[in-house]
Amino acid sequence: MSVVEAFRAAYGASPQTVWRAPGRVNLIGEHTDYNDGFVLPFAVPWGVTAALTPRTDGTIRLLSLQAPGEPVTLATREESKGWTRYVVGVLAMLGDRVEGADIAIDGDVPSGAGLSSSAALEVAVASALNDVHELGLTPMELALLSQKAENDFVGMPCGIMDQAASALGKEGHALFLDCRSLGSRNIPLDLAAHGLSILIIDTQVHHEHAGGEYAKRRAECESAARKLGVPALRDVTDLAGALDQLKGDERKRTMHVVTENHRVEALIGLLRAGQVTEIGALLNASHLSLRDQYEVSSPELDLAVEAAIRGGARGARMTGGGFGGSAIALVPDERLENVQRSVSDAYAERGFQAPRFLPAIPSAGAHRLS
Ligand code: GLA
Repeated sequence: MSVVEAFRAAYGASPQTVWRAPGRVNLIGEHTDYNDGFVLPFAVPWGVTAALTPRTDGTIRLLSLQAPGEPVTLATREESKGWTRYVVGVLAMLGDRVEGADIAIDGDVPSGAGLSSSAALEVAVASALNDVHELGLTPMELALLSQKAENDFVGMPCGIMDQAASALGKEGHALFLDCRSLGSRNIPLDLAAHGLSILIIDTQVHHEHAGGEYAKRRAECESAARKLGVPALRDVTDLAGALDQLKGDERKRTMHVVTENHRVEALIGLLRAGQVTEIGALLNASHLSLRDQYEVSSPELDLAVEAAIRGGARGARMTGGGFGGSAIALVPDERLENVQRSVSDAYAERGFQAPRFLPAIPSAGAHRLS
């Protein structure tokens, strides 16, 4: 059943609008967004579709094709659990401008892969509401509102990267975003012309403590910036001098954030120069920094990266928040099978659950379907 058919069956009329917003992978620039730094994600082919008609009685009716059963009925500010929180949060952020809605959701973001299905859900619903209420919000404003829903309503202190990639992504391009100025540029990412692909290696593992560790890293970065007397780690210009003033974990986190921002800029330089194959070394350096300085990798992610490189990848790194989820590998097309075999064999040997492989194709950001 399509999302429109499900909407009609549940609510007895066609939806007024249907929007689709994608998930994302991050090419480079990890844990830099909440440090006012640089990121370079791109939208993936999988996403969330939201069919929606406004209501004016302070209620939300909500159904998902992935959660069979009757629609859930909620008051517009009501606390809820699970996936519905992301939707209620977005409506709450729009305040008095939105008095309720009938919504049907359909999603195909591989679950648990760390590809930001929650951002896709928020941005799809925010875009649909923006459209039917003619609110005139820009894609970046929709991304910010979605991020705020996740920060304030869901309680996840995420940065802006995932929602921005979902709202502003463009087919065949990565999105360069300065997370302080919110200036962005779509950067052409023509891998096929160079005989390359980006392979997503989904470890199928998600560690429970990820949320707590994320908040902890964020707090460590903020504390380090305070000690250094700068608004954010983005502002560190003399890395050696900064490291002299810090100790322990804060020193390591600072080392990662500052060097990761440099890697984003370097990678964009290589893309501009058409030296796409050369970006592999930066991906590898990013992974090592996330593993050793930021300490957000996992044995499964490390093994995926090592085995992918052994199998012929030009470079590989964990992507997203870490502690499970996915890695990405830059692979010459003729080595794709080899890389997958190398990772699968390495996982089997270590007794890890079999990984899943997905092709990462830079895809369109949020758009109206009907
Ligand atoms: C998660 C967050 C993002 C970003 C990444 C790490 O995906 O939602 O805002 O901080 O982790 O780069």
